[in-house]
Amino acid sequence: MSIHSEIKRITTHILQEMKGRGEKISMLTAYDFSMARMVDAAGMDIILVGDSASNVMAGHETTLPITLDQMIYHASSVVRGVKRALVVVDLPFGSYQGNSSEALRSAIRIMKESGAHAVKMEGGSEIRESVVRILSAGVPVMGHLGLTPQSIYKFGTYAVRAREEAEAKKLMDDAKLLEELGCFAIVLEKIPAALAKTVSESVTIPMIGIGAGPHADGQVLVVHDMLGINKEFSPKFLRRYADLNTIIEEAIGNYIRDVKNHSFPNEKEAY
Ligand code: KIV
Repeated sequence: MSIHSEIKRITTHILQEMKGRGEKISMLTAYDFSMARMVDAAGMDIILVGDSASNVMAGHETTLPITLDQMIYHASSVVRGVKRALVVVDLPFGSYQGNSSEALRSAIRIMKESGAHAVKMEGGSEIRESVVRILSAGVPVMGHLGLTPQSIYKFGTYAVRAREEAEAKKLMDDAKLLEELGCFAIVLEKIPAALAKTVSESVTIPMIGIGAGPHADGQVLVVHDMLGINKEFSPKFLRRYADLNTIIEEAIGNYIRDVKNHSFPNEKEAY
């Protein structure tokens, strides 16, 4: 966050003010410089360097394989393209669950080596100690509750979470705990809209929903999904704002045709 920048940077304090006045918070993922520059220029409040990079950038089935080094590579590329948005980076699977010293080391590496502004961690009371240590080092932490993809092998499915009373109560308790510990916001993934509404109203920090209905304080999507780059993934909660898959395949097909039929490059395109 350069103190010399003329553009007013989004801070965790500004996000809190947005919740206070009922202004919805926009959040979208990005994993590379060029996309991050476009997302930022469009006016996004938060850019998440999600571990969904494991799926959409690397082609893995889950978010588990991505490493801390790979997340730092993506995050530093994103940071170079961003002038205004708050850049939040996922702590990847295995980099914080083991013990709080390792969690702190991982968070510090992300902040030092990428220049990002905050980290995101999945879980509630189970990761309490790690959250406390990272926060006490001055690193802002965003929580993530509901469907937490790093625990997919525990859940066994990507279905909606917290439909049952016991799980809904734990989610509410975890949201209050994360707020108490000092997290600046929480992602609520794939939970009933009514529960997201109750949690958002019961906790003072912003709740950012994905598949959590319209009452959260903000919304987040994966950029490849909302731009239609990734055609296979079409859950009910996803709204597609473009069909880039078709546009890109057509453009590339046209280039191949022009190369094959000798029409590219023409005289004007040659030295
Ligand atoms: O990794 C990611 O993209 C995320 C969002 C789905 C919230 O965690």
